[in-house]
Amino acid sequence: MTDKKFELTDLATGKKSTLDVKTPTIGPNVLNIAPLAKDHNVFTFDPGFMSTASCESKITYIDGDNGILLHRGIPIEQLAEKSNFLEVSYLLINGELPNGDQLKEFSHAIQYHTMLNESLLRFFNGFHYNAHPMAMLSGVVASMSAFYHDSMDINNPRHREIFAHRIIAKIPTIAAAAYKHSLGQPFIYPRNDLDYCSNLLNMFFSVPCENYQVDPVAAQALDLLFILHADHEQNASTSTVRLAGSTGTNPYSAISSGISALWGPAHGGANEAVLAMLEQIGTVDNITKYVAKAKDKNDNFRLMGFGHRVYKNFDPRATIIRGMCHKVLAKLGKSDNPLFELALRLEEVALKDEYFIERKLYPNVDFYSGVIYSALGIPRSMFTVMFAIARAVGWVAHWQEMIADPGMKIGRPRQLYTGSAKRDYVDISKRG
Ligand code: ACO
Repeated sequence: MTDKKFELTDLATGKKSTLDVKTPTIGPNVLNIAPLAKDHNVFTFDPGFMSTASCESKITYIDGDNGILLHRGIPIEQLAEKSNFLEVSYLLINGELPNGDQLKEFSHAIQYHTMLNESLLRFFNGFHYNAHPMAMLSGVVASMSAFYHDSMDINNPRHREIFAHRIIAKIPTIAAAAYKHSLGQPFIYPRNDLDYCSNLLNMFFSVPCENYQVDPVAAQALDLLFILHADHEQNASTSTVRLAGSTGTNPYSAISSGISALWGPAHGGANEAVLAMLEQIGTVDNITKYVAKAKDKNDNFRLMGFGHRVYKNFDPRATIIRGMCHKVLAKLGKSDNPLFELALRLEEVALKDEYFIERKLYPNVDFYSGVIYSALGIPRSMFTVMFAIARAVGWVAHWQEMIADPGMKIGRPRQLYTGSAKRDYVDISKRG
């Protein structure tokens, strides 16, 4: 809190209110409007939360105008260059980088929770083979709440920690099971001798009848993509997890709500939509036509992977992924990837176009991520699932932060009601 104040006057009654201003470590001040309803009997109206901070948080900071993203104060560029996904997970959840022993202990806890209960594994047989993997993921993660009654007391810090380990460890196993189910192949059990991403690739791509060697280039690329997707402050899915969790529901149900929110094409579903769009555009010659469609208000076509609620400058994650595309495709011997060439050209054309310049629309994290996932052999329908695996860490960190806050309240927004005023029920015989 600062000594800065805002004064608000109701011009009709002359009644005044003094509102406190909360100061963040960095970023714009935040006006505490909580007393407004009590003092003036008014609510604030902010569809899409364009000007509303829904909570206080110490996890992630974004400066959208300058393309800055910090996790616990550390720039994403440094984490991408020097860290790894499990270390970033520890940082997001615990607030500090781990020392050697802490990282070893955390990695061990994750490694030893990767197996699924066999009954949970059998749930997959109930899904049609062509069920979308996000549907399977949200259903099976919600079903985890039926298996861990021993550790679901949300007020017990040790229970919360075990939940965190279980989610981070088992989400790749569930994702791989969903993929294998769609192929009709046998599930592959996790392997504790492999690191987090190598284990995931092994569960995705190995089959019992052949030897499969994980390509370290692929595992490294996936690890980097996971770092870049791990958290992004109060985005739609994280806010969903917080809202669901604020009711005191079990954490598996809260995470499952986050998975559902992530699925939408305006959020995590964009990575799948970008690839579909690039395939639809097809060749460089069609770019002008599709850019014109994206600008046409009578056409619902949008450039997927472009634009962001917070970034009005380059999304720093997109810059890292674009650079990574060059390196990974070269290392995998896929430098002449036509979709990457098309994406680069599309970005170039859009960034020179007045429509995109005026609206500050830049490529977001998902404009290029699908190109890498495809190069790693991951099918398009699994892209948003990959995002969910990484973002589960952010959801856990935010859920933990919220539950540990003694001032936590159920999230319960108000509304601007514009429906009918009070009126009487009309008997069916008297209706026109
Ligand atoms: N293509 C064409 N025009 C666009 C695009 C786009 N991708 N994104 C925004 N615009 C236009 C809008 O039509 C609007 O124009 P107007 O002012 O003339 O009406 C203006 O830019 C502002 O856009 P809004 O939709 O109001 O911005 P908002 O902050 O609500 O939406 C969003 C942000 C949802 C990300 C949007 O840019 C979008 O739909 N992008 C494509 C989907 C996408 O890539 N989503 C992933 C986001 S990142 C993530 O969640 C991981």
